[in-house]
Amino acid sequence: MPDSRKLRSQDWFYSLEYYSFARRAYLRSEGLTRESIQGKPVIGICNSWSELNHCNLHLRDVAEAVKRGVWQAGGVPLEFPTISLGEVFMKPTTMLFRNLMAMDVEESIRANPLDGVVLLCGCDKTTPAQLMGAASANIPAIMVPGGPMLSGHWRDQEIGSGTDMRKLFDLYRIGKLNEEQFAEVEGCSARSNGHCMVMGTASTMASIAEALGMTLPGCAAIPAVDSRRKAIAELSGRRIVEMVREDLTPSRIMTHEALENAITVDMAIGGSTNAVVHLIAIAGRLGIEITLEDFHRISQKTPYIVNVKPSGSYLMEDFFYAGGLPAVIRNLLPLLHRDCLTVTGKSLAENVAAAECFKPDVIRTLDKPLSPEGGTLVLYGNLAPDGAVIKHTAASAHLLQHRGKAYVFDQYYKMLEELERDDLPVDENTVLVLKNGGPHGGPGFPEWGHIPMPKVLLKRGITDVVRISDARMSGTSFGTVVLHIAPESAIGGPLAAVQTGDEIILDAAARRIDVTLPPGELDRRLAAFERPKPHYNRGYGKMFLDHIQQANLGCDFDFLRALK
Ligand code: FES
Repeated sequence: MPDSRKLRSQDWFYSLEYYSFARRAYLRSEGLTRESIQGKPVIGICNSWSELNHCNLHLRDVAEAVKRGVWQAGGVPLEFPTISLGEVFMKPTTMLFRNLMAMDVEESIRANPLDGVVLLCGCDKTTPAQLMGAASANIPAIMVPGGPMLSGHWRDQEIGSGTDMRKLFDLYRIGKLNEEQFAEVEGCSARSNGHCMVMGTASTMASIAEALGMTLPGCAAIPAVDSRRKAIAELSGRRIVEMVREDLTPSRIMTHEALENAITVDMAIGGSTNAVVHLIAIAGRLGIEITLEDFHRISQKTPYIVNVKPSGSYLMEDFFYAGGLPAVIRNLLPLLHRDCLTVTGKSLAENVAAAECFKPDVIRTLDKPLSPEGGTLVLYGNLAPDGAVIKHTAASAHLLQHRGKAYVFDQYYKMLEELERDDLPVDENTVLVLKNGGPHGGPGFPEWGHIPMPKVLLKRGITDVVRISDARMSGTSFGTVVLHIAPESAIGGPLAAVQTGDEIILDAAARRIDVTLPPGELDRRLAAFERPKPHYNRGYGKMFLDHIQQANLGCDFDFLRALK
């Protein structure tokens, strides 16, 4: 029996019951000697590796580096899998399964003889799911995101995941790229392991994990295939063993102030609109209330300073060479809670004391921002009583104050067919409206909000119109797109009442999205609303529909939020 400070794992391995002996015996069946395990902290390596998730495909190699570090520091590493969520493979959407993965992470940690855990993530939803699960389990945890892919290149063009791929796809739709050229693009737009290499949701959430203090400094932006990714994984393995000894748990790190820091960083990097939903959900796991108004308040005082697509010009590889998140945090220190504790055991400010920016056009200073306000704007109005968001830094400036006639789609897949019509009655002033894209409607809150541009407009050289929905959009997307309208149309939110021909007003300056109707007409239409048949009547899908919360509440299950 070891005499060190009591470790959680000792309840599994060193109690008086028969099963303690059995557990030691079966652990030794993995080929470990008694000396290599006795009295040592057991460190779980929570791995979202999967061949169904290309973004996380290198995480087994990363896990080996973590194991080295754990052994070096005197711990015992044990790697375990969870469900993995591959953004572009899963249907109808990975968001349907984020909470399932969070439950898998939480229960795998809770049920096993672990003293600490290293979280290996990458693709969009794997990062928030692990943070949510680790927050609920609340044993010492450190995150190692897998890092972004190398920059894409096609001929003389740099291609950013999603962002430029969508533009090239539109050129293909209108015949400006031929089949052969399109096949070339397909072969070189995702050229290495790692997640999307623009400031999409994956890069945003990795940056947020670092801003929260849940990764070692500099971890977010190291390219997936850079040798320094494995080096930081090894260091993280070493550090988690020390964190166990210090009992440095997620609830000590992810405080209200740390969450506000994460929102500030999200605004400064022009982060994905999905971060709004995920951060509210993570806060909910910790019993901390973060609302859309917190995003608005912080957005107003936070300049947008990271010049990375889709809002800016560069890619994540450039961001890494420019100094990555430590350089951003250093620039932002006047706006941050500097003393927040991080996984290093030091404060956020201490972590970045020596950080430098090497490319001032990529990471701007506060007095030379790309925009004086943050990247995400929160809207309200008679169409969104509980809120909506728009990434105004990635929108067309001339459309942010706009009045136009609605053209309404009720169903996403039918909409895709209609958008190819040469006689679709739309013009540059039309407001495209998509219903049934929310948590209940999609189902699962899919990334349908970036409604593709109608072919008839692309042929006229028009590349953006106002688009509104209760869906999300990929963090790699761009355009004048109002998202996350709550309450959603499928449960009778006001969006359900909008009809083709209604006048819609987007007033970003006043933070409003409204439909102009005669007095009483909106209520009359909503009184006649009939809820569509639920998508599921059994299994996980039914549980999802029974317990999912709306976008403004973070879309967690009601029973997973921490009780106050
Ligand atoms: Fe995984 Fe974009 S598809 S991050």
